[in-house]
Amino acid sequence: MQGEIVLVTGGAGYIGSHTVVELFNAGYTPVIIDDFRNSQPWVIDRIAKITKVAPIFHAIDCQDQTAVFEMVKNYKNALGLIHFAADKAVGESVQKPVQYYQNNIGSLCTVLNALKEFGINNLVFSSSCTVYGETDTPVVTEQSPVKKATSPYGDTKITCEKLIQFNAEALQYFGATLLRYFNPIGAHPSGLIGELPQGVPNNLMPYITQTAKGIREKLTVFGDDYNTKDGTNIRDYIHVVDLAKAHVKALQYLDDSAEKKCSIFNLGTGKGTSVLELIIAFENINQLKLNYEIGPRRIGDVAQIYANAEKAKEALDWACEFTLEDALKHSWNWEKGI
Ligand code: UD1
Repeated sequence: MQGEIVLVTGGAGYIGSHTVVELFNAGYTPVIIDDFRNSQPWVIDRIAKITKVAPIFHAIDCQDQTAVFEMVKNYKNALGLIHFAADKAVGESVQKPVQYYQNNIGSLCTVLNALKEFGINNLVFSSSCTVYGETDTPVVTEQSPVKKATSPYGDTKITCEKLIQFNAEALQYFGATLLRYFNPIGAHPSGLIGELPQGVPNNLMPYITQTAKGIREKLTVFGDDYNTKDGTNIRDYIHVVDLAKAHVKALQYLDDSAEKKCSIFNLGTGKGTSVLELIIAFENINQLKLNYEIGPRRIGDVAQIYANAEKAKEALDWACEFTLEDALKHSWNWEKGI
């Protein structure tokens, strides 16, 4: 229904901000909940520039149950909540496991308590293909086994998924979608919002754009001796705007479902791209040369993983609209502007 309120935790972050824009585009009224620990307050103004509407936001830590309850009680009629707020760096999670469990699981507990307290019945959860761990096959469906996590970050995603599933079993009126993202890249075509990594990026795409800009001297490709077409890792890179649109569809799906339950969806393009292919495509589309070298493998990397995203396509009536080249162009456009 037009104008319905949707709460968005982590709504100033990379995927969150793009989702807020798409919620506006679809006629909803998103309300951002973000304490800006890993995002910038000016993102709110940028969203307003794109949508011509100033989003409502609350600078609240999702672990703070008192503050979350005080705020959510004003939105008892909200259609649902999309929960992005979480720590997300694999390497950092190994150094700071307590922080990761406390923040990622603690925030979810607070959110679930608030939803129950105020009778909000739809939850969209930001999960990751990391739950598949060391896969048996390169392509994974939602039925592929969830493997033992190789990092505290991965384990928090597995644990949060389980908690939401148990909650859906316990509460008849509560429905959820668990969205397992593959590798989000790209930025809004306007160049006004995009990924803002703090410090040295861990992920490939911001490392590429920062190298192209001269912030980093050179990119290291982590291994070219994998059993893949060119020896480098294969991933499924999805444009962040396509990913954002899937959240809106997931919410509509929950709203339309007569029977409340917990559903899982892979969100990827279904296409695998190697690290070298990504670098070459980036150079070609943006007409530049990237300084890179082949280095040793990174511990914990799986050789290849990409999505079977047929379930999301069918059930959510969703499909990717942007190409890999669009994403690489938009990432570079964004980097140049920051
Ligand atoms: C992983 C998780 C993903 C999680 C993300 C959070 C899996 C399969 N994926 O993504 O769910 O959300 O971490 O950070 O577990 N690379 C380089 N050089 C670099 C950086 C990366 O060669 O400087 C390579 C990596 O070896 C990898 C690819 O680029 O093959 C993508 O890496 P990255 O962007 O870090 O994402 P994943 O590790 O795939």
